Amino acid sequence: MARRTKVYEGKAKILYEGPEPGTLVQYFKDDATAHNAAKHAVIDGKGVLNNRLSEFFMSGLNAIGVPTHFIRRINMREQLIRAAELIPVEVVVRNVAAGSMCKRLGLEEGAALPRPIVEFYYKDDALGDPLVSEEHIIAFGWATQQDLDDMVALALRVNDFMTGVMLGVGIKLVDFKIEIGRVWEGDFQRLIVADEISPDSCRLWDMRTGRKLDKDVFRRDLGDLAEAYTEVARRLGVMPSNATYLGKPTLIN
Ligand code: TMP
Repeated sequence: MARRTKVYEGKAKILYEGPEPGTLVQYFKDDATAHNAAKHAVIDGKGVLNNRLSEFFMSGLNAIGVPTHFIRRINMREQLIRAAELIPVEVVVRNVAAGSMCKRLGLEEGAALPRPIVEFYYKDDALGDPLVSEEHIIAFGWATQQDLDDMVALALRVNDFMTGVMLGVGIKLVDFKIEIGRVWEGDFQRLIVADEISPDSCRLWDMRTGRKLDKDVFRRDLGDLAEAYTEVARRLGVMPSNATYLGKPTLIN
């Protein structure tokens, strides 16, 4: 049997060549990393949960006309996606002050923001993904002004959709990160949401108790990450209610 071709391996996912040109297979690993990979563990079932959750969010976005790379789920850990040329910028949308914004600006975690704030971070692990402005992005040719306008519009539509979906299950969407890629349709370029949308890339707080249901559980040693992600999946109805992934994390460093 022929071995499939690995195109890219990241911290939490692997990309393989897809069955047709312009497609890839995205495989979700159980690895969790934080603080620029200084902390690394393998958490049983995380990849299965994120595959399902990313499918849920991306197919919901596709259904309301927000284009994403998601085509269909293949199995427990893999999904078929459109190949896109990723813009080397992480787009973060914040509704509530948390994480690096609090450190940078001296804000109290949990403070409501006057409106959703869109930020850009240059994707470079060696530099620790620094915050950059639109000026940097245009001057260094990472994206055009038109791309940026489209990226902000896409990010805010994702925010509206995700905020509403999470509100419906009693969870506050504090902030999230998306990646955006280019695809070509004839002579026209289109920007689509790529990578993943999962509790690895969002901050999700239970509205009643404030319990964190996202990767901060791992970053800050707040308990069982798989259990928190299972709770999100259970509330959204994307996993059978008896499915739990409570394997003990294997700490690597
Ligand atoms: P931050 O507060 O650390 O800047 O993170 C903002 C949001 O973006 C939070 O939901 C986590 C997410 N994020 C990622 O998914 N990957 C990253 O590399 C970073 C820096 C943030």
